[in-house]
Amino acid sequence: MSEEFLPFSRPLISRAAIDDVVTCLESGWITTGPRVAQFTEALKDYLSAPFVLPLSSATAGLHLTLLAMGIKPGDEVITTPMTFTATLNTIVLAGGKPVLVDIDPKTFNMDLNQLEDAITDKTRVIMPVHFAGLPVDLDHLYEIAERHGLRVIEDAAHAIGAEFKGKRIGAVGDTQVFSFHPTKNMTTGEGGCIATRDEAVAKKIGLLRFHGIDREAWNRYGKGGTQDYEVVMPGYKYNMMDIQAAIGLHQLRELDGFIARREELAERYQAALADWSQWTLPETPAYPHRHAWHIYTPLINPVSANMTRDEFMLAMKEKNIGTGLHYRAVHLYPYYRERFGFNLGDFPHAENVSERIVSLPLFPGMTDAEHDRVLDVMYSIFH
Ligand SMILES: Cc1ncc(COP(=O)(O)O)c(C=O)c1O
Repeated sequence: MSEEFLPFSRPLISRAAIDDVVTCLESGWITTGPRVAQFTEALKDYLSAPFVLPLSSATAGLHLTLLAMGIKPGDEVITTPMTFTATLNTIVLAGGKPVLVDIDPKTFNMDLNQLEDAITDKTRVIMPVHFAGLPVDLDHLYEIAERHGLRVIEDAAHAIGAEFKGKRIGAVGDTQVFSFHPTKNMTTGEGGCIATRDEAVAKKIGLLRFHGIDREAWNRYGKGGTQDYEVVMPGYKYNMMDIQAAIGLHQLRELDGFIARREELAERYQAALADWSQWTLPETPAYPHRHAWHIYTPLINPVSANMTRDEFMLAMKEKNIGTGLHYRAVHLYPYYRERFGFNLGDFPHAENVSERIVSLPLFPGMTDAEHDRVLDVMYSIFH
């Protein structure tokens, strides 16, 4: 048995992608330019989305989309406590108030049956998360959003390549935000993009992502461009570099193969762990969907396992196997408790999952032997 550390996630970057990064570095143009333009078109094609804007991260995408949708102080944005803190942070940074809806205890996605109870006359946006790459029921979500006249920003950080009823996340609905962080289903190092069907939102994000300047650097300095520009609003510096897009162009072509391998490994865990009393395994809904399997997240049963989730993670680490924690429920972090008055007991399903969830190793380059090693080590920890 190899004793080398096995991380919970590892990006798979092809030799061709590495060669293209070198070509980009040697080309003399390394920031936003022709490769980002090409990546934009490739993403539009893959997502079947009319407007796509690559950005420096999904966090930037959530922040700018909220601003572009005109969130003002006092406006409420409904989201889930079972997410990365960026989801809530960006609501606060945009001036909004995060309002939370508990999760469905089976799928860990926002419980849409509780969503309407959280809607008030101050609600502007619903921001669900496709947790682990499992699509939220978009029919149900948009039926509620449309009936109440609300915008939807899908936090699709986990969900590039996921499908709901035969359509990719990004191909239908209002606006989606994807992440290309190294643990995600495809990567550009850091990076992300938004996809939208709203031209006005796309135009505003286009300005906000680069200083509020009406032309990007390539247009200003490239052949045939002009160095002149106008500043029409104060903007941010959230643009993607060509170095990143050089990786992304390759990753996007390989994405469906990556997801297919993730799916095989997730199914392998489901089959191998089915009879283990120490675990409650992830469940998937009945509606047709393609799970992107960004993470594989069973819940530990502490009584059967005779240990807590944190003790399990430590025991795995001692045996040279990495695990992940996605996530501790965000409403219990000090800032959110103090600023918005959230308390233990507010969202019982999220809190239960928060105490027990663990991400087991899952990445496209993972071999069957590495997968067996994880299972063997888990067995040895419990026996
Ligand atoms: C649900 C969710 N939203 C947003 C983000 C932010 O993504 P990024 O790291 O690209 O800013 C993440 C990243 O982990 C995430 O998991």
